[in-house]
Amino acid sequence: MIDDYNFWKNKKVLITGHTGFKGSWLSLLLFNFGAKLYGYSLKPEKGHFFLKANLKKIFTKSIYSNILNYSKLSKSIKKIRPEIIFHLAAQPLVINSYKNPRETFDVNLMGTLNLLESIKKIKTIKTIIIITTDKVYKIKKNNPFYSEKNSIGASDPYGTSKSCVELLSESYKYSYFNNKKPSISTARAGNVIGGGDYSKNRIIPDYLNALNLNKILTLRNPKFIRPWQYVLEPVYGYTLLAKKKFYRNKNEKFDSWNFAPNYKDSVSVKKLINLFQKSKFNKTRVRILSEKNRQSEKETPILKLNASKSKKILNWRPKFTLSETVDKILIWNEMIKSEKDFKVSLKFINDYINKS
Ligand SMILES: NC(=O)c1ccc[n+]([C@@H]2O[C@H](COP(=O)([O-])OP(=O)(O)OC[C@H]3O[C@@H](n4cnc5c(N)ncnc54)[C@H](O)[C@@H]3O)[C@@H](O)[C@H]2O)c1
Repeated sequence: MIDDYNFWKNKKVLITGHTGFKGSWLSLLLFNFGAKLYGYSLKPEKGHFFLKANLKKIFTKSIYSNILNYSKLSKSIKKIRPEIIFHLAAQPLVINSYKNPRETFDVNLMGTLNLLESIKKIKTIKTIIIITTDKVYKIKKNNPFYSEKNSIGASDPYGTSKSCVELLSESYKYSYFNNKKPSISTARAGNVIGGGDYSKNRIIPDYLNALNLNKILTLRNPKFIRPWQYVLEPVYGYTLLAKKKFYRNKNEKFDSWNFAPNYKDSVSVKKLINLFQKSKFNKTRVRILSEKNRQSEKETPILKLNASKSKKILNWRPKFTLSETVDKILIWNEMIKSEKDFKVSLKFINDYINKS
């Protein structure tokens, strides 16, 4: 396959959700490869990675608007005429989806519908990668180690909204783009962790917040097992997928791809936090929420993801173990205290790319 720098140089790429955690890292990675970047998202939130690292400067155009504004979205895409689209804009939190199911379905499902409608007549687009989640799978009580062959159909509103996105994407491929470009693929990653995530109710932002501000970390569901992975692992996987699909012939099918850590790195929240506590950096105080205050019935207790297909076909594989990932996060957290976020993060991108 053509190498990353040669492939991405001057490619016109649109990223929705470019101001978020994963969107910011994806943008930096593609900037590093030489792509010409366009973004469409809500305004970046105060104190979040996109603003702290001043990532606006790497975009040819960064549009701050709601994906539910169909007229604005379709006009923007018509003007940009991208070659590749990564769709990340979403309401991505399970807890919020219980509180605001309408908003979650609106943004995740209708937002994707608006995107797919907007691209119908744009002939430049070769490939669309739609980011869903490991939470799209119908929950299996025994051996919950999901591959792309397993049925989708989650039970919580977030997972369900993303399962609907999967069905919608497949339907659009066959209804409107059958035997022609663009290719449409969905990508399902595990629980993504890394520096630069400032979302509420996520374990790493909560941990770093407690560590940096000398607060107590509260664990809501210490026994929950999740496929934890370093942010650049799935993000790089998305770029490999886009590259592969860009050149594929026209009569290809809609498809879905898992990106996951190695099996042994799907561990409980408690084990993950123990790895942080064992590092050379300071420890934080931890409190475990009592059973009666937990929301365990609302999220599946065990989730493991099988990425054999991506490994075999894309030649993608996780480069870091979970302990290396934990070290990376803590080092990033230390480094941004004295150096610019942009410079530190580009260094992390280069370290990732250069790791064999
Ligand atoms: N972080 C994870 O562990 C994880 C795991 C699996 C899948 N995902 C998926 O990856 C994608 C990115 O997640 P993230 O963790 O970076 O989330 P994030 O909350 O950090 O970023 C969300 C992005 O979507 C944009 N957005 C939200 N609502 C919008 C709207 N109405 N109009 C336009 N833009 C809107 C935000 O502005 C932001 O840029 C999401 O689709 C999410 O479901 C995340």
